[in-house]
Amino acid sequence: MTEKISIHGQWSSRLAFILAATGSAVGLGNIWKFPYITGENGGGAFVAVYLVCIAIVGIPVMMAEIMLGRRGRQSPINTMTSLAREEGVSRAWSLIGWGGVLAGFFILSYYSVIAGWALAYVMRALGGAFNGLDAKGVQGLFGALVGDPERLLAWHTLFMLMSMMVVARGVRAGLEKAVTYLMPMLFILLLVLVGFAMTTGYFMKGLDFLFHPDFNRVFHECKTVAGIEQCELSGSPVLVALGHAFFTLSLGMGAIMVYCSYMPRQASIARSAILIAVLDTLVALLAGMAIFPIVFANGLEPGSGPGLIFQTLPLAFGTMPWGQLVGTLFFVLLVFAAWTSAISLIEPAVAWLVENQGMTRVRASAWIGVTTWLLGLGSIFSFNLWSGDGYKLFGKTFFDLLDYLAANIMLPLGGLLIAIFAGWAMRRQSSEDEFSMQPGPYRLWRWLIRYVSPLAVILVFLNATGILALVVTRLKFVSGGY
Ligand code: PFF
Repeated sequence: MTEKISIHGQWSSRLAFILAATGSAVGLGNIWKFPYITGENGGGAFVAVYLVCIAIVGIPVMMAEIMLGRRGRQSPINTMTSLAREEGVSRAWSLIGWGGVLAGFFILSYYSVIAGWALAYVMRALGGAFNGLDAKGVQGLFGALVGDPERLLAWHTLFMLMSMMVVARGVRAGLEKAVTYLMPMLFILLLVLVGFAMTTGYFMKGLDFLFHPDFNRVFHECKTVAGIEQCELSGSPVLVALGHAFFTLSLGMGAIMVYCSYMPRQASIARSAILIAVLDTLVALLAGMAIFPIVFANGLEPGSGPGLIFQTLPLAFGTMPWGQLVGTLFFVLLVFAAWTSAISLIEPAVAWLVENQGMTRVRASAWIGVTTWLLGLGSIFSFNLWSGDGYKLFGKTFFDLLDYLAANIMLPLGGLLIAIFAGWAMRRQSSEDEFSMQPGPYRLWRWLIRYVSPLAVILVFLNATGILALVVTRLKFVSGGY
């Protein structure tokens, strides 16, 4: 097969590609979402399940996405269509691309709202708003922000404009440089925060919470009724952990696929995927190690939800030396991390509009920006006007539902289809050619992508719907276990 080149340009080097993909992976998912869902799902066991998902599902699916993107060299929708044609299988595989565009649109709509919180906190940190505040004061500050839809709207609008600007100019311009310097800085600042967490006297408690698995908590949902804890089998934390493995690595929706269509041929797929996954996981774990000691030192609730980092880190900035500077820098870098991820969320859709509708990048970005911005209003209201029970479905706000649907259902489903396409629909020769790896590692990948990753996703889905528990009970019954 002759080498294809993307019409959207190519990264300048292998390093540039790695940085851009890491920029997509490292974002609010690592620093905002990972700590709060870990807190909500009981800590260590959740983290353990999440790490297993990264290893046996995340990395193989990332390798598959890289391989497909580099072979197709178009937007995910067109890449899937043309690869399906090449392999002589149904064009319906392009649904992977369509599902990805929709998931990216859903995710960006609330991602931008949360990035707006980070923008607001840059101004607060700069103005010294955290100095000398106690836990109550910090909570009050957070409540005042999320309770005010107009302010949230202003920040959401600003963040969306920032993202559209970069996408309109093309992913290469600007992005490469920003990621090269800002990503290492964010890493260093997280280390500083972990250093601060060590001084709280609760560092070991934080580590224990993060790394000491109590599996009872992940596989069972516990409620305290009349002072007695009652637990029933539950699959949902496992689904959240799996969904987060996809979310944090930007998998299952074509973001990595589209970035890889701009990838130079000489980059090694396996090494790139492992490096990105390791860096991403490290950032999340560091964020957890910085946050939980502060949570325990101040008697806060680990399961307090999406506001967790905004209610804990300001306590550190308010008391540490140079806190005003460190705090400002931290939120600036958080905004950058969110920015480099947001760009990748819309790139699949923009690339498709440019390829198929003949739009300019500017027009395509404007279209997508406006529609996503509108959908974001629903998430803004979830924290104020629509936070009451009357506006909830299954006990979840609009924001919760959108996040659950996109991250825990659409991304794993996209990942499952990608695994089946790469492992089963594609001829062995095609993937072997594209990888050009040693036979041993190639065979390992192929085994993982054909059997392990799809089965893991299917089992987690069945588990979450309660079907797995039903089947296990039946089997035990039939085999005389009861
Ligand atoms: N990986 C990003 C994060 O952890 O913040 C979020 C994300 C970006 C998810 C791109 C999906 C995606 F396609």
